[in-house]
Amino acid sequence: HNYVAIMAGGIGSRFWPQSRVSYPKQFLDILNTGKTLIQWTFERYNQFIPAENIFVVTSQEYVHIVEQQLPGLPAQNIVAEPSRKNTAPCIAYMAFKLQQKDPDATLIITPSDHLVLDTEEFERISGEALAFAKEHNAFVTLGIKPTYPNTGYGYIQHETESVAPNVFKVKTFTEKPDIELAKTFIASGDFLWNAGIFVWKVKDIIHAFEQYQPEMYELFAVEHDNFNTTHEQEAIERVYPLCTNISIDYAIMEKADNVYVIPSSFGWSDLGTWNSAYENLEKDHLGNAVSANNVVVIDAVKCMVSAPSDKLLVLQGLNDFIVVDTPDVLLICQKEKEQAIKEFVSEVKRSK
Ligand code: GDD
Ligand code: MG
Repeated sequence: HNYVAIMAGGIGSRFWPQSRVSYPKQFLDILNTGKTLIQWTFERYNQFIPAENIFVVTSQEYVHIVEQQLPGLPAQNIVAEPSRKNTAPCIAYMAFKLQQKDPDATLIITPSDHLVLDTEEFERISGEALAFAKEHNAFVTLGIKPTYPNTGYGYIQHETESVAPNVFKVKTFTEKPDIELAKTFIASGDFLWNAGIFVWKVKDIIHAFEQYQPEMYELFAVEHDNFNTTHEQEAIERVYPLCTNISIDYAIMEKADNVYVIPSSFGWSDLGTWNSAYENLEKDHLGNAVSANNVVVIDAVKCMVSAPSDKLLVLQGLNDFIVVDTPDVLLICQKEKEQAIKEFVSEVKRSK
């Protein structure tokens, strides 16, 4: 059978101060669409995967938010992690749990906080990926045509000959290159961005953990019989503290030699930062994205303003700034310096 696991345990620090550790980005309606990012994600998959085959993996502390936001998701499909260990342990947990239940499961692993505009095309591509992964020992990624040297993404280079319609073998997978390397990749015209969505059979990904992350594999393997029983909670509390904190991209994708890519275009945006939100929002004639009517903008140009409160906010003469007002934090930051927001967050924490 086909399954989806939505990863929803990240803290969305580049969207601070709207995104907080206590209530991160995936649970917010960043673009004022009427639904939160995880709600859109769930709906997108629920078009072609029944709710009982959709799982959400998240931190213990977010379980109540998931329950609240996804009433259509069976409660037992919320998988709680005892601590934040990045995506590799999260995926290992999900794979072992599913394998115990359905040894032939094929799994789509997906972020919870992305934007997809063309959901029909998305469904079509997902179908291609599932079909290919079922037939082969293949880790299928979805590749997005890059537009600039973003250092926050994985970069995929593939063979020129396809192995199936629209499916290519991956030559190199490079996670978060430095700016120089990213520029070289973009200039060569030969690379795609990794959309962060992975499709594979659970038995194949478990085998890859055994090969490339043998210690993590062992930790989960010894607990195999406890998954989907009343002992699962204790088991996972034994495993997690011993797991390395590492993302799947570094742990497996950079190392595996059975990686494939389907070049895709379904209106994807990572919505990773305020600038990417800005790109996707409607702008006034001076290029300001202002998402509330309690904001008055005078002679300001190309600002990203988010102020979800009743307080009146007046901006004059500001160019290319991010302004985010929340009840307890006001952020004013140059748009081009947004990568530093992650750092302010730790700075602010230190000073408190
Ligand atoms: N359950 C759980 N536990 N989920 C997590 C954890 C965790 O410890 N850490 C992160 N997540 C979730 C996030 O909430 C997000 O939905 C998803 O996993 C991906 O994590 P990010 O932290 O957002 O990854 P990234 O954006 O830096 O990089 C990944 O995505 C890029 C595309 O957006 C990589 O796969 C890159 O290669 C890719 O280009
Ligand atoms: Mg991300």
